[in-house]
Amino acid sequence: MSLPREERLKALGLWPRWRLRTAPAPMTMEAESGTPSPAPLDELPDAASGATEISALDWDGLRRAVLGCTRCELHRSRTQGVFGVGDPNADWLIVGEAPGGDEDRVGEPFVGQAGKLLDAMLASIGLTRGEDVYIANVLKSRPPRNRDPDPREVAACLPYLERQIDLIQPRLILALGRFAAQSLLTTDASISRLRGTLHRYRGVPLIVTYHPAYLLRNLADKAKAWEDLVLARETMRGLKGDRAA
Ligand code: URA
Repeated sequence: MSLPREERLKALGLWPRWRLRTAPAPMTMEAESGTPSPAPLDELPDAASGATEISALDWDGLRRAVLGCTRCELHRSRTQGVFGVGDPNADWLIVGEAPGGDEDRVGEPFVGQAGKLLDAMLASIGLTRGEDVYIANVLKSRPPRNRDPDPREVAACLPYLERQIDLIQPRLILALGRFAAQSLLTTDASISRLRGTLHRYRGVPLIVTYHPAYLLRNLADKAKAWEDLVLARETMRGLKGDRAA
């Protein structure tokens, strides 16, 4: 169930709302020309503004908006926006954190080492990238040096993922890692508390598991990830009301 906007902003550390020194910039679909110096953080446009416009976009418009997005400072350092990949009518939506270096270069989520492991995780429950699966990230632009996303960047970018979810209407969301889970569930609970149970995002069943990049460094937790994947597979089977999910 989605929380009221104030609750969501609180969970992201954005409430009470910061005051703008300048008027909010209108949402722009085009990359900025020129190289103005970065604005001080407290002068950034209101990251939550423009969410209503985004919530009305169709799939192609949404893609164009992401590719040309300048809603946060990450557009200055990214190579390109990374919209997502797969079947826009998929039953399964996989949500990661943010593009890394490989994804920034290629323009597709999870194409590096973590992506290979993700493909193997999907295969273990009979899924293939692009076939009844859509893969997207919370952030559509790469944070420099793969640093953790900033709450303002999340607030600026989340409306894109929210609209993707509205349009895809997945039957089940699999959140990869603490960051995706906390962003979608507006909580600061640890991943160990979040995994292993069925959550809901705006009514859509959501299951949390470890991020593949974490699993590459912590092989012992692969067994727990397998339990999460089985939970996801069984949940989907139940949702479809048959044994062939
Ligand atoms: N990690 C993520 O969370 N997303 C990607 O697309 C790649 C690595």
